Amino acid sequence: MRRISTKRLQPGMQLAQPVISADGTILLAKGQTLRASYIDRLRQLGVSSVYVVDPRFPDIDANDFLSERARAQALRTVRDACTSLIAGSVIDMPAVTEIVDMLIDDLSSKPDLLVNVFDIRTYDDYTFAHSVNVCSFAILIGMSFSLNSGMLRELAIGALMHDLGKTCVPLDLLNKPGSLSDEEFAQVQKHTSDGFDILRKQGEIGLLSAHIALQHHERVDGTGYPRALAGSEIHLYARIVAVADVYDALVSDRPYRSRFLPHEAAARLALESETAFDAEVVRKFLRKVAFYPTGTLVRLSTGYMGVVVDINQPMTTRPIVRILYDAQGEDIGDYFELDLSKSSNISIIEVISDETRLA
Ligand SMILES: [Fe+2]
Repeated sequence: MRRISTKRLQPGMQLAQPVISADGTILLAKGQTLRASYIDRLRQLGVSSVYVVDPRFPDIDANDFLSERARAQALRTVRDACTSLIAGSVIDMPAVTEIVDMLIDDLSSKPDLLVNVFDIRTYDDYTFAHSVNVCSFAILIGMSFSLNSGMLRELAIGALMHDLGKTCVPLDLLNKPGSLSDEEFAQVQKHTSDGFDILRKQGEIGLLSAHIALQHHERVDGTGYPRALAGSEIHLYARIVAVADVYDALVSDRPYRSRFLPHEAAARLALESETAFDAEVVRKFLRKVAFYPTGTLVRLSTGYMGVVVDINQPMTTRPIVRILYDAQGEDIGDYFELDLSKSSNISIIEVISDETRLA
């Protein structure tokens, strides 16, 4: 399989990964053969890329880091929580706890798990899909800190619910392209204290989980909001969720910018560790991210181009690449694999996101 921009999809291509909507239903299943009408719909929904089956790479797999069932149920749970809050009723906490436990089970059953998939979602899905990803990343980081199961649950509940305060912010303000006025920014910033107040009132949510909503925009150098806390004044859970939140936002298409590739997002996080982010949290998280997910077309320092077919751990920046093209972009015919962890003189110099050369 390989990742392909929806602009380049052709009828007859087959999906290698499902497309899941905001309410957790599967819009198009894995294995579905695409028709022209499906392709139009994907583009209308703002889905920027999908994974398709490619007979040249039958062995390349980029399974989502969550099971389909867990992801779909988590999406539904976050959506239901938002709907309940908007309707003035309470969050179904047993449902939240159930899904959080399912995510923890899902992720802890795969200790070597890497975040090894490109973002595939629509703009509309952003808030819900983002919450589920932030929760998953927070669990992965929490496991690296060897948090016990009670702590992981507290962390995961707060991470899943960290942006619920946004139900109090008008949608056009949240999606506004360009810069915000001081007044608008203040309104957006309030989602932290609003989120805290909402969660505190739920009774069944621990105070530390609620603090994640309050503190996830604080920065360790004291430049965050709402209280400009610094260093360990910010609870570890909130320092974890800050990193998870920013990474997922960076790798997502937003109405006002297109996404960063995983290695670019990782570089930005690394640059801001020690200043904005807790360096230890960033280090632990980046060990869990595949900078070049399988299916990525890359150019090597030799000029040759190929597709990432497997990730090496812990050398995630040096995956195994199947070489397809020479430096001139000519198909070399006799494909071979290069293990970059064993070829220290060769490195990846570019990710080719416009896959015209593969089409
Ligand atoms: Fe937020």
